Amino acid sequence: MKYRNLGKTGLRVSNICLGTMAFGRWIDEQASAEILAQSFDAGINLIDTANFYGKGQDESFKYGTGEAEEIIGKHLKGKRDKVVLATKVGLPMGQYVNDAGLSKFHMMREVENSLKRLQTDYIDLYQVHRFDKRTPLEETLSALTDLVRQGKVRYIGCSNFAAWQMAKAEGISALNHLERFVSSQSQYNLLSRELENEIIPFCESEKMGLLVYSPMARGMLSGKYKSKDDLPEGSRAAKGEELIQPYFTEENFNRVERFKEIAKEQDVSLSQLSLAWLLNQPAVTSAILGASKTEHVLEAARISDWKWAEELKEQMSLVP
Ligand SMILES: NC(=O)c1ccc[n+]([C@@H]2O[C@H](COP(=O)([O-])OP(=O)(O)OC[C@H]3O[C@@H](n4cnc5c(N)ncnc54)[C@H](OP(=O)(O)O)[C@@H]3O)[C@@H](O)[C@H]2O)c1
Repeated sequence: MKYRNLGKTGLRVSNICLGTMAFGRWIDEQASAEILAQSFDAGINLIDTANFYGKGQDESFKYGTGEAEEIIGKHLKGKRDKVVLATKVGLPMGQYVNDAGLSKFHMMREVENSLKRLQTDYIDLYQVHRFDKRTPLEETLSALTDLVRQGKVRYIGCSNFAAWQMAKAEGISALNHLERFVSSQSQYNLLSRELENEIIPFCESEKMGLLVYSPMARGMLSGKYKSKDDLPEGSRAAKGEELIQPYFTEENFNRVERFKEIAKEQDVSLSQLSLAWLLNQPAVTSAILGASKTEHVLEAARISDWKWAEELKEQMSLVP
């Protein structure tokens, strides 16, 4: 397993991060615990979760119910100090007006709830899940700074921020001697490359860590989907994942076929090729894999330090 510094910090994290959005939602506690154990054994030391992850992500619920953090807390016993635990705050966790967002009121309460569910005294990386236009960034950064000074949080990060929002946060932190976001978390994969316009140049310029989610395009880049009307049994799309739907375009199905051929020439699976492409992007610190089976972790771990030929990058970029 390859390790890299998280942005400008001295913290070393594996270039594959375990994503846990499926825990307690699409996969049950036992399957989640097996994936956690397998990841640890494979050398993955970075785990990404959120207070919101679990059953509460489904349409029938109105807010997060915390199952993923609970499962991690229960099954990380004895290993807590070996892993870098990243969670998030900001999405709705209740029905009242202050049960969401990045206000000091909400975050101070939610950090305690996350610590309880995770059965730990500290969070290594506390990420704001998305920008909150109703709360001044000064308030958010000041509350996060308090949490770092109280020892409840070690580093802070942002997720789904636009580059201008990250730039504004950097300026506010610098002017007011507040903690700085050390990492940004955004969607990036072979089929979704908007990040290259603004976020990647910003992260490179400011030496921010970049944690990229949905590296398999929510499963599309595993090659298991042949068309939007033919969903394999047990797949996430068949279980009702709506956010995979935008990937189901004719253009993407064609691209996947081309990438499959390249993967075959390289003697790796399409999932491995897709992951390796990300891991070879200089700005990417770690790819957050949404494994739903232990085999997914093993397959990813085998590609963590694959030597990538420059011509391959060229070949991949020629796929229209
Ligand atoms: N900050 C945010 O707003 C945000 C948003 C989304 C995600 N995230 C984070 O990023 C993580 C990953 O996101 P994601 O789940 O969308 O990522 P993903 O890795 O793109 O998709 C995961 C799905 O890909 C399939 N897969 C993975 N490896 C495979 C393999 N080797 N062979 C075959 N299929 C494979 C599985 O599908 P099947 O289950 O169908 O087999 C799995 O459920 C989340 O868990 C979460 O931690 C953050």
